[in-house]
Amino acid sequence: MKTPHSLLLLPLLLLAVAANVAVCAKIVKTLPGFEGELPFKLETGYVSVEDSELFYYFIESQSNPKEDPIMLWYSGGPGCSAFNGLVYEIGPLAFNITDYEGGVPPLQYYPYSWTESTSILFVDAPVGTGFSYSKTQAGWYTSDTESAWQTYQFLRKWLMAHPQYLKLQLFIGADSYSGISGSIVVNNIVQGNEAGVVPRLNLKGYILGCPRIDATINENSKLIFSHRIGLVSDDIYEAAQKYCNGSYYEVTTSEPKCYEVIKVFDRLIKDINKNDILEPKCTWASPQQGEDMSRRALEETSSDSFILSTPKIPDMWCHNFNYAMSYWWGNDQGVQEALGVRLGMIGDWVRCNKSLQYTMDVSSVLDYHKNLSRKGLQVLIYNGDHDLTIPCTGTQEWIKLLNLTIVNDWRPWIVDGQIAGYTIKYSESGYRLTYASVLARNPQTTPPRFDKLCFPLYYINLASFSSGSRSFASRVQEKGELRDVPEVHPLLSHLNWKRADNFPGIEAEVPVEKRHHRSSLDSSHSGKLYPVDDFVASGLMY
Ligand SMILES: *[C@@H]1O[C@H](CO)[C@@H](O)[C@H](O)[C@H]1NC(C)=O
Ligand SMILES: *[C@@H]1O[C@H](CO)[C@@H](O)[C@H](O)[C@H]1NC(C)=O
Ligand SMILES: *[C@@H]1O[C@H](CO)[C@@H](O)[C@H](O)[C@H]1NC(C)=O
Ligand SMILES: *[C@@H]1O[C@H](CO)[C@@H](O)[C@H](O)[C@H]1NC(C)=O
Ligand SMILES: *[C@@H]1O[C@H](CO)[C@@H](O)[C@H](O)[C@H]1NC(C)=O
Repeated sequence: MKTPHSLLLLPLLLLAVAANVAVCAKIVKTLPGFEGELPFKLETGYVSVEDSELFYYFIESQSNPKEDPIMLWYSGGPGCSAFNGLVYEIGPLAFNITDYEGGVPPLQYYPYSWTESTSILFVDAPVGTGFSYSKTQAGWYTSDTESAWQTYQFLRKWLMAHPQYLKLQLFIGADSYSGISGSIVVNNIVQGNEAGVVPRLNLKGYILGCPRIDATINENSKLIFSHRIGLVSDDIYEAAQKYCNGSYYEVTTSEPKCYEVIKVFDRLIKDINKNDILEPKCTWASPQQGEDMSRRALEETSSDSFILSTPKIPDMWCHNFNYAMSYWWGNDQGVQEALGVRLGMIGDWVRCNKSLQYTMDVSSVLDYHKNLSRKGLQVLIYNGDHDLTIPCTGTQEWIKLLNLTIVNDWRPWIVDGQIAGYTIKYSESGYRLTYASVLARNPQTTPPRFDKLCFPLYYINLASFSSGSRSFASRVQEKGELRDVPEVHPLLSHLNWKRADNFPGIEAEVPVEKRHHRSSLDSSHSGKLYPVDDFVASGLMY
């Protein structure tokens, strides 16, 4: 067990740049679970927006923070903490689950972080997410448009309190469900700039990972994708085409034949892990969960529970396992003190809040993208090609609807001599959009973390973004050849990772479940139950 370093409390700085800019910030030098000082600059804090106190983690670029771009990042759900981005997706920390035996979960440095070249402002949005809270009862209620507005205000206030970052190139990054509100945030910035709101935000582009953009396209693409990848037979797919008139969701009994086919489809994929169809579905995998609980949960959710309840499954690696670490970490009082969290403002910290008071008031942001495609922005859209929550076929479909010109047609992109996915580049009067699929790896779910593959892609894209920032571009050039066609890897020497050495996810392919299951964990966590972390079961999107 590691000694908490949180006792080293640092003074809180109160920054009040203007009457309406309330930012409360803290520089965090050490974190419980992490040995020694953090090897990057971490600032945490709250920004007041309307009734909300929005919590953030800001990590400064580890290269040249004075010139590197800055990115606002928030996770999906809606309701998933930005901490997901920080430890499971694009940030410089990861849990080290090797030999974990309870106590504050150990953190390790993760070298393939996007913060290597970019300052990232991770925000817990919308309100109710992570450590963000509302000061009033009414303030908990929010929606796509409202939360996008608050996130925009959050960003403005944070930048006004940190004016040294205002001149940097600004990107907005979001994934999964936040494709909706993230796109609206981008639009808010563009409109604010056009309306002459000061200070002007130096928006250069946006990055969306497996984004939800259009409900109809996304939902329909699930059947199309399932057929293409072989989960659904030709006969069933043809029947659906024949009876459903191209609409495969929200089908009611008023269309009896279509309804029957879709019911068959739903049954066929029910026990597939939607975030990555190649991964085991681990409904039961919260390590604290007793056998009785898991049996009950299975009975409730699955009539075919025999598929999932074979004794072999506990030997498999499950993401839920690594996810459980964040509950123990985030709810540790020493951790909260170290992060400068206002104690007692939320109940338990949860990785993803499933009881958000949230109205999904925008079902499609396709029109926003049509408008944005006339604004000279630089865009990266990536999608795991085995993702059944946001299928890549749907992502490609809405991109086509933007009617852009292909400047670099469909081709593989390569990491360490292996095809990592496929990419295509479009352009239209200064607007540039790169789409990249990620081969059999969903950014949110697959070990090793997606960053390994995503990082070079991101590099390439930023390099092409940065015509205005010559030093950034040339610095990237120094690190490796950069051309439009990304077959030039390895870009960076440190990308040569070794399988089991650095990645907890890979390490965990050894039956981690055996080592960490109940016995060791129950005692140290006194049987406190956190929710089973399975968005597929709960129908949430993540
Ligand atoms: C992870 O934890 C194991 C066991 O405590 C330790 O041996 C290893 O050095 C840690 N790895 C890192 C990168 O901190
Ligand atoms: C099929 O869908 C099209 C377009 O969505 C619609 O115009 C048409 O009326 C539908 N046909 C039937 C039989 O429902
Ligand atoms: C989840 O969100 C709801 C509504 O926004 C809030 O009342 C609740 O406290 C949040 N739960 C957690 C665990 O933060
Ligand atoms: C797109 O632009 C048009 C023309 O400026 C405007 O009328 C429309 O409201 C915009 N759509 C969105 C979703 O912002
Ligand atoms: C798509 O772009 C082409 C070429 O710029 C143009 O001729 C065509 O009208 C556009 N289609 C739509 C639906 O906007």
